[in-house]
Formats: sequence, structure tokens, C-alpha cells
Amino acid sequence: MISELSKYSVKESIFQDFYECRLKTFALFQDIEEATFCSQPHPDFSPVGWHLGHIAYIESLWLLERCAGSRCLFPQYSKLFAADGLPKSERVKLPNLEEIRYYVDTVREKVLEYLEVVDIEQQERLWRFLIQHESQHCEISSFVLELVKSQESRKVSHVRIFPALRSHPCLEVPDARLLANAALSVEGSGVELALKSQECRILPLEMIQIPAGEFEQGSDSIKALDNERFAHKVYLDTYLIDRYPVTCEQYRVFMEAGGYQNSRWWSQSGWQWLQTESVTQPLYWCDNRSWDNHPVCGVSWYEAEAYSRFVGKRLPTEAEWEKAVSWDAQVNHHRTYPWGDEELTTQRCNCDRLIGKTTAVNAYPTGRSAYGLDDTLGNVWEWTASWFNGYNGFQSYPYTGYSQVYFGEKHRVLKGGSWATPPWILRSSFRNWYHPGVRQIFAGFRCAAD
Ligand code: AVJ
Ligand code: FE
Repeated sequence: MISELSKYSVKESIFQDFYECRLKTFALFQDIEEATFCSQPHPDFSPVGWHLGHIAYIESLWLLERCAGSRCLFPQYSKLFAADGLPKSERVKLPNLEEIRYYVDTVREKVLEYLEVVDIEQQERLWRFLIQHESQHCEISSFVLELVKSQESRKVSHVRIFPALRSHPCLEVPDARLLANAALSVEGSGVELALKSQECRILPLEMIQIPAGEFEQGSDSIKALDNERFAHKVYLDTYLIDRYPVTCEQYRVFMEAGGYQNSRWWSQSGWQWLQTESVTQPLYWCDNRSWDNHPVCGVSWYEAEAYSRFVGKRLPTEAEWEKAVSWDAQVNHHRTYPWGDEELTTQRCNCDRLIGKTTAVNAYPTGRSAYGLDDTLGNVWEWTASWFNGYNGFQSYPYTGYSQVYFGEKHRVLKGGSWATPPWILRSSFRNWYHPGVRQIFAGFRCAAD
């Protein structure tokens, strides 16, 4: 009886999550124009319409074909919407929104029929994976939409209006001043040079010391994706890590000190990247002083690396980030979220597109970690120094193309999620990854030091 009850509640909860996740997906596509649907503002990313079709394709492939044993309902879409079907440049010729909507809805109808009869205990992991797969494609669609919008506004006015500049008058977060309680020596660093060379107000370099010791990295939860498994002990020496992500005000010092013009702060590959890209500011840069306490957003890993060197620091490794965010040394236990294991809500962090832009780094004190870090989940993804690789004993799930094909020294790990990240992929063990030159994602960073 008890086991029947728990089966029922797993089904209920999966049904709920599938439903809520899909509502959010549709909200993203509401009122979207046909041109936007098929537009590809950057060659590395597919049009949002493709992401919608791909969500249905993956759901159909794994649940209807592989599990339920049905035939493929829409064979005409297989090549178009498979991740390895067509080159991205050929994903602009899409069925229209109504046709894709019909595809999405038809697949979902069958999926819900299957959910009624499936032995969910055998399949919970797959269903949880699919919710997180959809969530990730929604976040990608969010920044592709931002890129389309900023391209359009540039066409119209010849003035660069970045998405960050669109105002949301109802949701202004008061700018509180950051407080200093731990200063780091800036001797010989770019900050010191900038202080000498110009009149800039330098924010206190507030860092938190994480004592040496073991913590538990990764997760064994049923919701954990293949690359988060298995939870394992890691020993780290004492290190320092920023309490907040790097803010626009802090980053401005780097820009005004000529950070983008001086190879001194850049690694060799970073400088090389800069020469070909010729960027001079973060992609989602906003010069308005009211954004001083917002995290810098739209930087590549190379820019994060250069800034860190400029202030005499470095990027944290993924393990350093995760320990500082999830470890509760008091009880020797790993927390799912920085604040503990209580459910994630939009009271705790800026996520799920509720606000629609970044917020000040000190706007969510209820999201603080046991070690005292703020703003770790939501707001902006945070680049880490680590390459994306599998943990010991890694096993692909549900297919090698999800994580394994990206392992190696090609992609850097990002942690924490952004203002546009759906709740199902927000947790301290979640791992995102991109090439170090990518700046379209909503990414910033915080620094570490020894
Ligand atoms: C983890 C966001 C890099 O976009 O390729 C979606 C997520 N994997 N479908 C990606 C993903 C398969 C992945 N990222
Ligand atoms: Fe995918």
C-alpha cells in the first residue's frame, strides 16, 4: 500500500513538473513573430523555433519510441530536429509555429497517455532528465531571443541598445553598498595601477576564507544528470573566494584602465581570442550607474580570466566554487542549494525569468551559503577555471552525446544558473559547459585566491 502510494506521488510530481515546465516553455514563445522564430542571430546557436521542435523530438525519441516502443509519429522531422541531424546554418528553414506547436502537443498527448501506464519506478531518472533537457533549451532560447532583440534595435536606431537597458520599473532592487570585512592585497595588481592612473572608486574586495578540508562534490540524487555523478569526497587546501560575483562597477575599473588593450592581463589563448573578436566590453554591458551593483554579464571565459589577473586573483576551480556554495561544515553535509535543502523559490534567488534581467548581487540575502557566499544561484552563470570532464566512475546517461562527447580540454564549467534559468536545473551540483570564447550566455564570474 505504501509503495503504491509513493509510486502515485512520483507520477503526480512528474506530471506536475512536465506541465509547469511546458507552461514556461510556451510563455517564452507567446507573441513571438514568425521572423524571430526562424532568425539566427549568431551562427553558433539555432533559432528558437528549432529549440521548440527539438524538445518534442527528444521527448518522442526517448519516451515514445525507445520506452513505449511506438513508431516515430513525425518521421519528416527527425533529421531537422535531431541534435546531430543538420548543420546549424540549415536550421533556419523551419515549419511554422502552428505546425511545430501541433508536433509538440501531439507528442505530449501520447506521452501523458504513456505516463498513465508506465512503471515509473523504472523510469523516473529518464523523465527527470527530460524536464531538465527542456529547461536547458528554454534558457538557450531566452538568450537567442535577447540577441534577436538587440540586433533588431540596432538595425532600427543605429544606436546600440542592449537588452540590459530595457527597463522594468516595477522591480527595481535598491542598491545597497557592499561592505568590507576582508581586504586583499592589491599590490602589483591592475587595481593598484588603476588607482594611481585615474580617479576610480574601488569597491572593497570582500572575500571569504574557506578552511582546508574535505567536502562532497557531485550528487547521487535521482535528479542528478550523468555528469554530476557520483558524489565523491574532495580535499581542498584553504582558499579565498569572493562573496559576490564581480559587479559592473568593479569591471568598469578594468575597462577604464585599458584592460582590453593590455596583453599583460591576458593568457596567450585569451589574447589571441581578443585579437580575432576585437571586443571592448561585455556583450550585455550596461553603462548606467544604477547598474553598478549588478553582476557583469556576457563575458567569455577569457575576459573573466583577464579581469581576475588584473585584480591579482584567479578564477575558482569548480570544486572550490561548489564547496563554498554547498558545504555545511557544521554538520559535515552537502546542501542541494546554498541555503539548505528547502525548496527553491524566487524569494531565494533571481531565476526563472521572473524579473527578466539581472539584479544587484546583494539583493538575495536569503540565498546565502553556509560559508556566507551571496548570489551563487541565479542572476548570472559563473565561469570556473575547470575543464568539463566526467567524475570517477562516470557512466553516460541517457546517451553519450549529452555529456561525454564534450569532455576534454575544450569546454569550461559554469555553475549556478542565471536570471533566465528554470528551477529544475538550479542546484549547487549542476554543471553547465561552454567553449571559453562564448559570451552569448548570461555569464559572469567571481574570483578566488590562495
Ligand atoms: C549544457 C547547455 C551546453 O546546449 O548543448 C541540450 C545542453 N544537451 N541538449 C547544450 C543540452 C543536449 C547543452 N549545454
Ligand atoms: Fe538537446
